[in-house]
Amino acid sequence: MFDVHPPSMNRPRRNRRTPAIRSMVRETTLSSADFILPLFFHENAEDTPIESMPGVTRWSLENLVREAGEAHALGIPAVVLFPKIEEALKTPLAEESSNDAGLVPRAIRALKSAHPTLCVITDVALDPYNSDGHDGIVQRDSRGELRILNDETVEVLCQQALCHARAGADIVAPSDMMDGRVAAIREALDDEYFTDVSILSYTAKYASAFYGPFRGALDSAPKDGDKKTYQMDSANSREAVRESLLDEAEGADMLMVKPAGLYLDIIAKVRETTTLPVAAYQVSGEYLMLKSAAAGGWLDEKAIVLESLTAIKRAGADMILTYFAKQACAWLK
Ligand code: PBG
Repeated sequence: MFDVHPPSMNRPRRNRRTPAIRSMVRETTLSSADFILPLFFHENAEDTPIESMPGVTRWSLENLVREAGEAHALGIPAVVLFPKIEEALKTPLAEESSNDAGLVPRAIRALKSAHPTLCVITDVALDPYNSDGHDGIVQRDSRGELRILNDETVEVLCQQALCHARAGADIVAPSDMMDGRVAAIREALDDEYFTDVSILSYTAKYASAFYGPFRGALDSAPKDGDKKTYQMDSANSREAVRESLLDEAEGADMLMVKPAGLYLDIIAKVRETTTLPVAAYQVSGEYLMLKSAAAGGWLDEKAIVLESLTAIKRAGADMILTYFAKQACAWLK
């Protein structure tokens, strides 16, 4: 068309010329081993579709075990458990959270006996158990203002982590954002000889509006107030570095950033701060955004999901908690 003599210059496009070349120079690849599947379940014998998260189910114990097995067979190494606790069992001090006969310990035992090689991760926080819907214990001061008690909560979290460890959890994941909880949980576990149980700390967990659909799934929204006195301010990034340094020093085995997609800068920063593995949680609101854009026929689901997961890994995440885990495995095959 044009009669141009090619100038001699750098041509990055040569490395993009064919699928074969692109596959050789690709810097980030996804695999099923990168994914951790969050699973919801309840005491009911029937499964319930979760209204706030189309395509996600709240399982019976039996089908939780089946679903986890299917995920594991696809190459997903780990699941993380989120129980919906019956309203009648919720109390201000969240005693049910360390009941050895409770829903979570029973789920852990069932999962480990059916799928011994599956890594079982549990959420350590009080919100599903607490009649106030907060991750910690709530106290009202003389003016009626809400306070989340830090050190008292940490004691309860230690009991909860021990309860999960006794049931056979591989990894406990404190998501509560109380200060000092990683060191306290490590000590509590070690005291009971659970030296092999790991701690995946929600290190930089932001007070995010993107958790909305999750709280709908578990009916665990705070009854009063918000989570801003313990979860981080989305405007801050240096604070994530501070939290990472603390959690690493306190003995965490892995650190997590949450949410993921809108916090890629935080993932990258935490990645540079620590030598520990870094996890990122693509949360319920991120799931819902992608899912609804696809359901509307506006965006191509497979393409946007794989692109979003690749971006999270490229930013520095070694593992990704995602509700798309099973679908992504199928797409990657
Ligand atoms: C509770 C917890 C939350 C999520 C994981 N653990 C909600 C919250 O902190 O309010 C959110 C996950 C999601 O939105 O997918 N400790």
